[in-house]
Amino acid sequence: MKVLFATSECAPFVKTGGLGDVVGSLPQTLREKNVDARVILPLYKSIPQKFKDEMRYIDNIYIDIAWRKQYCGIFELEYNNCIYYFIDNKFYFDGDKPYDHIHLDCEKFIFFSKAVLSVLPTIGFCPDVIHCNDWQTGPVPVFLDTFRDNPFYQNMRSVITIHNLKFQGRWDINGIKDAMGISDYYFTDDKLEFYNDANLLKGGMVYADKVTTVSDTYAQEITTPYFGEGLDSLLRARQNDLWGIVNGISYEDWNPQKDEFIEKKYTPRTVKSGKAANKAALQRELGLPEDPDKMLIGIVSRLTDQKGFDLIAYKLEELCQNNGCQIVVLGTGEEQYENLFRHYSWKYPDILSAQITYSNEMSHKIYAACDAFLMPSAFEPCGLSQIISMKYGTLPIVRETGGLKDTVKPYNQYTGEGYGFSFANYNADEMLGCIYTAMDVYYNNKPQWIQLARQAMAADYSWDVSADKYISLYSDITGIKVEKRKENK
Ligand code: ADP
Ligand code: GLC
Repeated sequence: MKVLFATSECAPFVKTGGLGDVVGSLPQTLREKNVDARVILPLYKSIPQKFKDEMRYIDNIYIDIAWRKQYCGIFELEYNNCIYYFIDNKFYFDGDKPYDHIHLDCEKFIFFSKAVLSVLPTIGFCPDVIHCNDWQTGPVPVFLDTFRDNPFYQNMRSVITIHNLKFQGRWDINGIKDAMGISDYYFTDDKLEFYNDANLLKGGMVYADKVTTVSDTYAQEITTPYFGEGLDSLLRARQNDLWGIVNGISYEDWNPQKDEFIEKKYTPRTVKSGKAANKAALQRELGLPEDPDKMLIGIVSRLTDQKGFDLIAYKLEELCQNNGCQIVVLGTGEEQYENLFRHYSWKYPDILSAQITYSNEMSHKIYAACDAFLMPSAFEPCGLSQIISMKYGTLPIVRETGGLKDTVKPYNQYTGEGYGFSFANYNADEMLGCIYTAMDVYYNNKPQWIQLARQAMAADYSWDVSADKYISLYSDITGIKVEKRKENK
């Protein structure tokens, strides 16, 4: 089974959120399970030079976009036992960030999607499945439909995974028609047309053989108008081809037992002393009072509405006044939320530290140092931060939506089961009540808290089970069976 992941992000080369983590780790697990999984992504300027130095130039071709022929260089890198292909074009990929939020993004990912298919004969790799991710690669299944006359592409199947339905790649229909250069046939309302615009994600969802999303609950939610972002009726129509497969994380990258970024490594057995050392180090580094007994709550997130920051904004004053915890925030995003946290760190310097930046290293330190992790999302396709937190024995406080509902088992005070705290409605009082419930256990039943931290660390969210589900999905559409490797039996 040969699978090519087409993606706009892949850790450690480029990551702005969870998509980067997923494509940075799932292919590796698939490879361990006898699937020839490879990855193709843009050669962005921001990819660290050390990786660029290791890349091998394969060849170049030219791709028709609107009235122009665009250069398309092809590079290859073998890294971490997996093969990565990079598409080079300075005109499109020379921005400082992968997404520039300017008009070019549309054309740039149409170019990338067309390149993904066009370079394959030159590379000499003919995948059985192209696994697309989000709107940036939505055009791939559409282009594939137009490439079918060529025998090379005849048996190729495609899958698209929706990591976030809110972002759809929606632009003026004429611009998209022009850039894609395919016939008007593709631009009716049962295909790419969407409220007089064209929608790249919708194109992918119509033409892919299967549509997946990253948790069971989100797969159900998006078939309703409330979560469906205008595409719920299409999702209902394709319900038989819609699979929810929950994300995993790499326990090579996220593991307190071997994390090189943190002050003190720890195991479930040593979680209490390990966390104390990491907490003290972080408090020192961030200038918070060094108080081992104060509950430390972490937030590592894109600062957007999706993540529930309006609930936090509403209750932050009360939470700081209450003086029952310290809070550390790491994130960038919408200005109103960046300023909110800047303001509170100025007003309550002994309670809140705001790190308005993107730092992988700091994220590791926060996951390790905190007692709890706050993530009251309005919607959450899967969420990885809460899964990472659990591995570090940091108990998540979440709203029961999407993947948060599927991955965080709430503490049951009668049975002692669970490893987190959750609330149902998108309501600031419920969130605050939930934080206070967590505080109550933390301050009044420490042995129970430590036990919950151990239970969180024992919960298994590695890729093992979910990778098997992707393999059955690939088998479903290709008819190819994958033999299990002996060591995996
Ligand atoms: P989303 O993909 O919606 O942003 P996820 O929870 O799936 O949310 O994944 C977020 C990923 O991005 C996690 O690995 C998290 O640690 C990381 N992350 C988010 N913001 C930052 C930041 N400011 N610095 C470092 N890592 C961050
Ligand atoms: C998206 C979602 C997040 C998910 C990630 C990886 O960015 O917002 O919930 O975990 O993709 O699938």
